[in-house]
Amino acid sequence: MGYTPSEIASADFGSRGELRDLQLRRLKATLRHAYDNVPHYREKFQKAAVAPDDLQSLADLNKFPFTTKADLRDTYPFGMFATPMRDVVRIHASSGTTGKPTVVGYTQRDIAMWAQVLARSMRAAGLTADDIVLNAFGYGLFTGGIGFHYGAECLGATVIPISGGQTEKQVQLIQDLKATVLLCTPSYALTIADEMARQNVDAKNTSLRIGLFGAEPWTNQMRREIETRLGLDAYDTYGLSEVIGPGVASESRECRDGPQIWEDHFYPEIIDPVSGEVLPDGADGELVFTSLTKEALPIIRYRTRDLTRLSPGKGAMRRMDKITGRSDDMLIIRGVNLFPTQIEEIVLKHATLSGHYQLHVTREGRMDELTVLVEVKPELSDADPDWREAIGREVAHDIKSQIGVSAKVAVLETDSIERTLVGKARRVIDKRPQ
Ligand code: DLL
Repeated sequence: MGYTPSEIASADFGSRGELRDLQLRRLKATLRHAYDNVPHYREKFQKAAVAPDDLQSLADLNKFPFTTKADLRDTYPFGMFATPMRDVVRIHASSGTTGKPTVVGYTQRDIAMWAQVLARSMRAAGLTADDIVLNAFGYGLFTGGIGFHYGAECLGATVIPISGGQTEKQVQLIQDLKATVLLCTPSYALTIADEMARQNVDAKNTSLRIGLFGAEPWTNQMRREIETRLGLDAYDTYGLSEVIGPGVASESRECRDGPQIWEDHFYPEIIDPVSGEVLPDGADGELVFTSLTKEALPIIRYRTRDLTRLSPGKGAMRRMDKITGRSDDMLIIRGVNLFPTQIEEIVLKHATLSGHYQLHVTREGRMDELTVLVEVKPELSDADPDWREAIGREVAHDIKSQIGVSAKVAVLETDSIERTLVGKARRVIDKRPQ
């Protein structure tokens, strides 16, 4: 679909005009590819009375219908693939919370492009071929582990493919193999820090220098907590399986103010999640992506459900703000809208609390009840219960005054809240009757 390896490797596209020309060319080719090879897309386009030739400018993209998880589910498993199966060399899948997983596929060229955008992401964070990368993202159907693995090899770094879990061993390998880079979810980074504390390892003085963290929402407060506890620079890295996996956007050394989107491969839009209307850069809304170079699974206007905004980047490509949450993670407690990241920010302002937390929602009669579980830092675990209660009252007060919702706060001992060793942290347990 008209890209060269050197184009992929380069993150420097000169002017925004040149980038937009490239995007338009690739967008036209992608719409044509999807229309000609995926009956589901053809039907959707016909229903919306649009055809690939109706795209004359980037702005014309808003005439085309959105794609959602439901489209992938309805065509399960391979109905959205645009190439014959003999050209598909890899399958990944994201676990649906209910029912069937979402299956995604890659051609050899897709895999090469994916490795290169991940190599680019790592290079942007300052990694080189000299780095030793402990890859603690889960290997398997999840795109995190194997995706980053290929990316790190493409960069020429040394990969330790440990996957998630076996936290004791992670700590041992960091020390013995002198790992310089850690890749995992932000919540698992904290778990590794806890394990170091348990083993009396001086976490701040290991060989680790950089961490790329993603796959779940996390705040800048969490970034500072991880950086302080592990003595490294933490970068936010973003992606989703339907679009490719990790490698859609990633922070750079020049700009750790939200991930830079690799716009030569993934075209972003921000829409109003209710009306679907395209919003200007700078406005808050739902992120939508169209792939520009994918072969096996071209994705047109995929609604990510992730909430953020687009801002100017360092070069021609734009960046996104840190994700505040997913529209489907938003809780409504007695009429107040709430994202788990808002609680995370408040919890981590308390120096005595670790970053592990979970929200439990129940219903007593007709009233929703929110209980926030938090933990004291490992070194304070035998602190007296009165003191813990006092901290709980302070946190509850901050939640009430900053978010406007009353919550009970339970300050627990270290290791009381479940840890997710592979996959994403479960921040909310909603026990309200559906
Ligand atoms: O989580 C891909 C990934 C792996 C990204 C490793 C980064 C690192 P999925 O399992 O399909 O793919 O989940 C995608 O995870 O729509 C977001 O809601 C969330 N997400 C991913 N990265 C971030 C991030 C991978 N940096 C979904 N910040 C996305 C916030 C993130 N949320």
